[in-house]
Amino acid sequence: MTDKPIIDHGLEGVYYTESKIAMIDGHLGRLYYRGYPIETLAQNSSFEEVCYLILYGKLPSMMELDSFNYQLRNSREINPSVLAVMTEMAQKADPMDTLRTAISMLPGYDIDAYDNSNEANMRKSIRLISQVASMTAAIGRIRGGKEYVAPDSSLSHSGNFLYMLNGAKPTENDARVIDIMMILHAEHGSNASTFTTIAAGSTLSDIYAAVTAGIAALKGPLHGGADEAALKMLYAIGEPENTEQYIEDALAGRKKVMGFGHRVYKAYDPRARIIKAFLEELQHSSSEEVKKLTAIELRAEKIMVERLGNQKGIWPNVDFFSGPVYVSVGIPLELFTPLFAASRMVGWCAHMMEYWQDNRLIRPLDYYSGELDLKYVPMSER
Ligand code: CMC
Repeated sequence: MTDKPIIDHGLEGVYYTESKIAMIDGHLGRLYYRGYPIETLAQNSSFEEVCYLILYGKLPSMMELDSFNYQLRNSREINPSVLAVMTEMAQKADPMDTLRTAISMLPGYDIDAYDNSNEANMRKSIRLISQVASMTAAIGRIRGGKEYVAPDSSLSHSGNFLYMLNGAKPTENDARVIDIMMILHAEHGSNASTFTTIAAGSTLSDIYAAVTAGIAALKGPLHGGADEAALKMLYAIGEPENTEQYIEDALAGRKKVMGFGHRVYKAYDPRARIIKAFLEELQHSSSEEVKKLTAIELRAEKIMVERLGNQKGIWPNVDFFSGPVYVSVGIPLELFTPLFAASRMVGWCAHMMEYWQDNRLIRPLDYYSGELDLKYVPMSER
């Protein structure tokens, strides 16, 4: 047996490729998409423009954005056969399982399905970004026992998502809130789901197969599922005055507080900072539920930062503050992670296409620590 190598458990600190898509400075708490600070994009851009930037590597001209929007808006309708399967499945299955199944059906209805040219992959990426938002809204409708709402091509990407979910045109403010949330979730380097996407695609399968793998990885509570888990924790705390004791008990029991900590950020996640700004307004919300959740969240953040912030580098991440914001615009808890997937689809597609420019099969090693040369005992003698 060879000497035991150094094992980078969880691939922590391992570089496997070069990328020009996102830069995360985990020490300073900075995030850039294609060189632009996330704060600038959240303030000035639309989700559509950010998608273009991430996919094409530059901000679009007006004409380029119009054409991109046209393609997105014309890809919103869900194929009736896919919708039928979703309708059957969504009533019982976890929304992320329904979404994953629906996405893996798409190649059956796409003439570009097995064309792996960059041009075809760009067309498929645009369809995926558009479709996954529609699917997320449709899952919400089906689970709420409501009829499917057909897309409205006069609305923006986020506006249409809310329209397909709620069956009514959203206020400008609500559409903008979702737009910013989608911008903040659009891309984040080689996180678990993006790496999974790339690993699947590095076998030269296809973009639908690759992002289906990405969805599977996003589902878990250590990754995309953390926003749901964080809101469930707020409900479990119940009342603002229970917050400090709840957190103390969790830390004493060595339980993870969902929405805190990050493999890369050892400073305040800049996305969390942007979302926290929404909470200032939500403190004065007309909804008692939103006001209470906000109060609990701000108290939980305070004690966590005091206890673990500077001491251990564990700060709120993007998933911590999302709950009350989503609740305030009518997104049900079970759609948080699918909505994350709808936003991150652009990052997955961009990374997949970039990696394919210089593809190399992903095939790391594990160090075998089991036994060898065991004597085979026939079944009758065991
Ligand atoms: N609450 C309490 N303690 C924590 C937390 C937390 N949320 N996160 C890390 N720690 C502690 C952990 O117990 C360990 O302590 P010790 O050194 O005493 O054993 C130490 O910090 C290191 O933790 P780790 O889990 O080894 O660190 P990691 O680099 O693997 O952590 C993480 C990254 C995201 C898995 C972890 O922080 C975590 O589980 N957080 C909660 C889940 C979460 O919010 N996930 C969303 C991540 S951001 C969105 C995304 O990209 O998906």
